[in-house]
Amino acid sequence: MKYSLGFRVWHWLNAFVVFGLLGTVFLRKTFLSYKENAEILMGKLHEIGIEITIEQAKVLAKAIRSGMWEWHIILGYALVFLVAYRIYLFVVATPKKEPFSTLTLHKKAVQALYYVFYATLLFMSISGFIIYFYEALGLSKEIAHDIKEVHEFVYTFILVFVPLHIAGVIIAENRDEKGLVSTMINGHE
Ligand code: HEM
Ligand code: HEM
Repeated sequence: MKYSLGFRVWHWLNAFVVFGLLGTVFLRKTFLSYKENAEILMGKLHEIGIEITIEQAKVLAKAIRSGMWEWHIILGYALVFLVAYRIYLFVVATPKKEPFSTLTLHKKAVQALYYVFYATLLFMSISGFIIYFYEALGLSKEIAHDIKEVHEFVYTFILVFVPLHIAGVIIAENRDEKGLVSTMINGHE
């Protein structure tokens, strides 16, 4: 056995949750962008003879967005549990892998990228919950805003990692690691 059942379940649930979180960000920045939708609402209401200010239109557009964005928080809770479970696996049930020192340079780089990714997930979980609960934590709006900026900046790494990882796995599967993807499904070498 290469990857334990717990580890494989973790991998796919985590992939699902990370895709979901990226999906909510995508919607927030595109179809449900409150700035763009405020313009649309104002324009369309104007056509039917109702005048509202851009500030009022933004309130409406944010109300439309809010049901979708709740999923960022719901998936955020799921991510925290997944990160905690991954830490548990690190401590008590690390998969039996080749020791780091005997890996090829390429494999070392791949492993290093995974560790950076894990650190990033941990950071996103902590920073996300700090922004979400900033009032209860006694933080000012300014500090919460600054943390949000970092949260948003670090998101770029996740955005780059995911397609890079999938492309890397597909390339490895087609070159010298036949069956790599199925090891993450059935656990066998
Ligand atoms: C958001 C999507 C995904 C995330 C966040 C993600 C994350 C990860 C992480 C962190 C690892 C390292 C596990 C470790 O050794 O500690 C890993 C390994 C792996 N993932 Fe993913 N993954 C995603 C999607 C996928 C998809 C779509 C596939 C299949 C096409 C896949 C196939 C694999 C395989 C085969 C490995 C083992 C590779 C190796 O040993 O280097 N992953 N994934
Ligand atoms: C893979 C993990 C995550 C990614 C990639 C991610 C990405 C992002 C991005 C890009 C933004 C800025 C959106 C914008 O202003 O356009 C954001 C905001 C935010 N995220 Fe996350 N996030 C993640 C995890 C979390 C977690 C675990 C929580 C915890 C609840 C969280 C809570 C928040 C909150 C509260 C905001 C601020 C929303 C606002 O200003 O109205 N995020 N996230």
